[in-house]
Amino acid sequence: MQGMKLVSNIAALAALALSSQVFAETATEAGKARGDAAKGRQIATQACAACHNADGNSTIPANPILAGQHAEYIIKQLKDFKSQDGKPAERESPIMAAMVAPLSLDDMKNLAAYYAQQTPKPGVAKDKALAEQGEKIYRGGNLETGLPACAACHSPNGAGIPPNYPRLAGQHSEYVAAQLRAFRTDQRTKDVNNEMHMIASRMSEKEIQAVSEFISGLR
Ligand code: HEC
Ligand code: HEC
Repeated sequence: MQGMKLVSNIAALAALALSSQVFAETATEAGKARGDAAKGRQIATQACAACHNADGNSTIPANPILAGQHAEYIIKQLKDFKSQDGKPAERESPIMAAMVAPLSLDDMKNLAAYYAQQTPKPGVAKDKALAEQGEKIYRGGNLETGLPACAACHSPNGAGIPPNYPRLAGQHSEYVAAQLRAFRTDQRTKDVNNEMHMIASRMSEKEIQAVSEFISGLR
C-alpha cells in the first residue's frame, strides 16, 4: 500500500514536470510563428481600442495595458479566455470571453505581434509610502510566509522573461491587485503548473495592495 502510494506520487510529479515542459514548448512555438502586426493593428483598431487604447496604453484602471507585453503571453491569455469543447475557460472574464469568441488563432498571433511592438508609457505610483512597502515584497518576498520575490520571475525592472513570465512594469495597480485576487481564488489560470495561485495564496490583502502600487510605478 505504502509503496503504491509513493509510486503514484512520483508519477504525479513527473506528469507535472512534463506538462510544464510541454507548456513551455507550446509557448515558444507560438512565438516562433510570428504574427502579422499590420493585420493585428486592423483588428485592434476596430475591436479593442475602446478599452485598451489604440496603442495598447489603456488609461482605464480596470483594463490592462497591453503595449510592450510579450507576444507569447498575450496569445496564451487570449486562448485562456476562450472556452473550448464546452469546458469552462481557463481564465474567467465575461467581457474578454465575448471579445475572443470570433478570433482565430492567426488573429490572436497578429494581435499579439501588434501589441508587443507598441511602446508602453512609463507609469507613476500614486502612493509613495505604500509603493516602498511593495518594493520590499517585489524584490525580497516574505521569508515568514515563504512568499518568493516577484523579481525572480518577472525580472528586477518588471520587463518579464518571455515566453512564460509577463511584463508587469507600469501596469495599473487596480488591475494587478484584481489579478492577484483572481489567482488566489482560482478564477484565473487553472493550469496544472499554476505558480501564481501558490504565490497569491500566500499574500495578505495589505501585501497585494502594496506590491500592486509598486508595480504601477516600476520602470
Ligand atoms: C469592453 C472592454 C474591452 C474590450 C473591447 C477588449 N478588452 Fe481586453 N480586457 C478587458 C478587461 C476588463 C480585461 C481584464 C480581464 C480580467 O479581469 O481578467 C482585459 C484583458 C485582456 C488581456 C489580458 C492582458 C493581461 O495582461 O493578461 C488581453 C491580452 C486582452 N484583454 C486583449 C484584448 C483584445 C485583443 C481585444 C480586441 C479583440 C480586447 N482585449 C477587447 C476589457 C476589454
Ligand atoms: C515562479 C515564478 C513566478 C513568481 C516568483 C511570480 N510570478 Fe507572477 N506570474 C508567473 C507566471 C507564470 C504568470 C503567467 C500566468 C498565466 O499564464 O496566466 C504570472 C502572472 C502574473 C500576473 C498577471 C499579469 C497580467 O498582466 O495579467 C501578475 C499581476 C503577477 N504575476 C504578479 C506577481 C507578483 C506580485 C509576484 C510576487 C509576489 C509574482 N507575480 C511572482 C510566475 C511568477
